[in-house]
Amino acid sequence: MLVVHAADELAPAHGGALVPTMGALHAGHLALIRRAKETGGRVVVSLFVNPTQFAPGEDHAKYPRRRAADVAAAEEAGAEIVFAPEVETVYPTEAEVAVPPLPPVAIDPGLEDACRPGHLAGVCQVVARLFDLVRPAHAIFGEKDFQQLLVIGAMTARATERWPGLEIIAHPTVREPDGLAMSSRNEYLAPDERARALGLFEALHAARSETRPDRAEERMRSVLEGHALEVDYAVVRDRTKLMPLAEDVSHGRALIAARLGAVRLIDNMAWG
Ligand code: PAF
Repeated sequence: MLVVHAADELAPAHGGALVPTMGALHAGHLALIRRAKETGGRVVVSLFVNPTQFAPGEDHAKYPRRRAADVAAAEEAGAEIVFAPEVETVYPTEAEVAVPPLPPVAIDPGLEDACRPGHLAGVCQVVARLFDLVRPAHAIFGEKDFQQLLVIGAMTARATERWPGLEIIAHPTVREPDGLAMSSRNEYLAPDERARALGLFEALHAARSETRPDRAEERMRSVLEGHALEVDYAVVRDRTKLMPLAEDVSHGRALIAARLGAVRLIDNMAWG
C-alpha cells in the first residue's frame, strides 16, 4: 500500500480507478473500492475532508477523522494507493481552486442545491481538483448522494478535453441490515435517533407502492413525520435532471433529506 500526501508523488495513480472519500470509511465505501477493483486498474482512494463543501455552522470541524484505520480498511478492501492530501495540496493557489461551471442539475432541482447553498459547488471544485491530480480512468461514486452523482456525471460529460476518457461509475447504496443507508454521519446518532432514522428507508418504501407523484410525496411526508423527522424535502423526480414529474412515477426517483436535531440524513430510491 502506497500512501501519498503530495501532488508530485501521484504518477503511480494516473490511469487508475479513483474512489473519492472524506474518510471515516464504512462498508459502503468498501463496496465502492471493490467495484473499483473490477475495472482492472490500480485502485486509488482519496481521504480528504473538503472544507469548501461545508457551509459555516455545518459539521466540518467534527466530521470523523481516523486516517490510520481508513488506510488499513482501504488496503484490506483491495486499494493499492491512498491519497491523503493536506488542504494546501488540494487548494494551493487561487487559479487552481476555480469552481467549474455548474451543470443545471446542480442548480435547478431545488434539493441539495437549495438546502445547502454552495455545497455542490464545493463538491465540484474538489472532485475536479482530484481528477486533475489523480488523472483516473474511472471514478466511482455511491448512489446515496444521488444529486451529487448526477452533478459529477454532468460536470465530467462537459469536460471531455480536461479529463479524456474518464468514466463515472455509479454504485448502489449500501444499507445496514434494517435498511438504513450507510453514512459516516450515522455515527452522530444517539440510540433513539438511530431508530427514528429508519423513517427515511420506510418512507421511500411506502412511496414505491404509489403510482402518482403527489400521492407518493404525501406518503413519504406522513411516514417521516410519524418518526418525528424534520423534512427538508421528500419528493419524486425524474432520474436524470431531478425535475418534477407530471404523472407516472415508474421512471422516477424518490429522494429525501430530513433532520433529527443536528443530524441531517439523505436517502433515495428508484421504482422497480
Ligand atoms: O461523497 C463524498 O464523500 C464527498 O462529497 C466527495 C465526493 C468525496 C467530495 O469531497
